[in-house]
Amino acid sequence: MDQEIPVAERLQPITKGKAEPRRGRWAIASSLVLVGLVGGGAAWFHSRPAESPQATETASMVTPTENLLGHLPYEEAPLSQLTPVSADGQIKLRRAAAERFRAMVAAAQQEGVVLIPLSGFRSKQDQDYLFFRVKEQRAQGTRERALVSAPPGYSEHHTGYAIDIGDGQRPDTHLNETFEDTPAFQWLQKNAARFSFELSFPRHNPQGVSYEPWHWRFVGDRHSLQTFYKARQLTSRNEP
Ligand code: DAL
Ligand code: ZN
Repeated sequence: MDQEIPVAERLQPITKGKAEPRRGRWAIASSLVLVGLVGGGAAWFHSRPAESPQATETASMVTPTENLLGHLPYEEAPLSQLTPVSADGQIKLRRAAAERFRAMVAAAQQEGVVLIPLSGFRSKQDQDYLFFRVKEQRAQGTRERALVSAPPGYSEHHTGYAIDIGDGQRPDTHLNETFEDTPAFQWLQKNAARFSFELSFPRHNPQGVSYEPWHWRFVGDRHSLQTFYKARQLTSRNEP
């Protein structure tokens, strides 16, 4: 998507003209003039404002502001890139994320902690149901729904890198804030970074999404890192 390319990468490089060789007295005189010009140019270069007003205007015109109700847009992972992480094969992640997730489950198991996958990749169509139909069933307002659920097209679950994790020994805490009191969450807080998983929505996150101690995302390769960290501007969800 063009808007996701950083502004600096979209600007054309400045091409420099080549100096012609000169000879004789005129060459010396013109060299002196050139030295003066270069010196003056250098002084101007160091005293100039960081960006010309025109450049600033251009940058602000192309700064992407694509968030919707605090959520950011994501491409849907191709099905060919997904692989199961649950025994029934229903919960899937992108291959690199799945591999590290399985290693994390095994490491936790060694310490008597049971991590279980609750939800992984979701299509935009799945999210359509979760956002609109569940919103109706619960008679929620749009902003209220968006605190806990991303609109279709704006969920990290589309990427195939996000996973909701539960404690196999505490099903009563699944997808609930009380998950933070479980051995699974405490183990994740201490160890998830070793497997390149991080919490997407900690308390008071800048997106304004509700605290989700169960929702983790993989950031352990170039594509996943770019997916979540390419500069995108967030505007306050309280704006009219
Ligand atoms: N629950 C998170 C925000 C999602 O729907 O993607
Ligand atoms: Zn989630």
